[in-house]
Amino acid sequence: MTILESEKDIAALREGGKILASVLNEVARRVAPGVAAADLDALAEKLIREAGAEPSFKNYKTPDDKIPYPASLCVSVNDEVVHGIPDQKIFQEGDVVGLDLGLKYKGFYTDSAVTALAGKADTESLRLVETAKKSLAKGISVVKDGARIGDIGFAVQSRAEKDGFGVVRKLVGHGLGRKVHEGPQVPNFGSRGSGMALKKGLVLAIEPMITAGDSDVYLDDDLWTWKTKDRSLAAHFEHTVIVTENGAEIITKL
Ligand code: MF3
Ligand code: CO
Repeated sequence: MTILESEKDIAALREGGKILASVLNEVARRVAPGVAAADLDALAEKLIREAGAEPSFKNYKTPDDKIPYPASLCVSVNDEVVHGIPDQKIFQEGDVVGLDLGLKYKGFYTDSAVTALAGKADTESLRLVETAKKSLAKGISVVKDGARIGDIGFAVQSRAEKDGFGVVRKLVGHGLGRKVHEGPQVPNFGSRGSGMALKKGLVLAIEPMITAGDSDVYLDDDLWTWKTKDRSLAAHFEHTVIVTENGAEIITKL
């Protein structure tokens, strides 16, 4: 768990977050039919290094993972929920494209994701993406010193389910700061007032994964990509935030 107290450390985290937000934005606006995921990955890595930072997902591996993650940018298309591996296959009109990126800068890790649509998408895809984005905003809105982890999950889940969408439970958000993943776990479901109390300076990645159909997921044969079991579409948004006295400061805001 990382709790930052010094202004110097928080300033370094903020700088990293700014770099990450701008790179992710650059990559996201290039999503279009005919573009290959691998090209976005190469661009993301180049922009991160040019900014003096380091991609944090490339070669990342936990003791649970059989193989290291081979890219800088996770690209998860349609029924792929998260951790899709970018390849040469091109996006098709209407694809729902999740982009997840992390970096290390001055010793601090930040992590953020958006979901973009390739060209013209149908109304259901648009609605899914909008709801996923709003559910992240809702989750962030309840963060403050003294609030509970369960308050975040409750806020995200209620927002998503209100629109008739599912919330993935097998995968959760997390603490971060000095590593890619740290405690505490940040589920996207839960009940108000439950779980650990948030503390000023705690750094969290809040990352709802929202599905158009059933929310159950499985790990693909490539050992990284998580997909919906019923093949329904999924959307993912993520911000790194730091807990403050009265709220959350979004570290990866553009
Ligand atoms: N943002 C991703 C997450 O929190 C990080 C993925 S690490 C990778 O799960 F190695 F899978 F890319
Ligand atoms: Co994350």
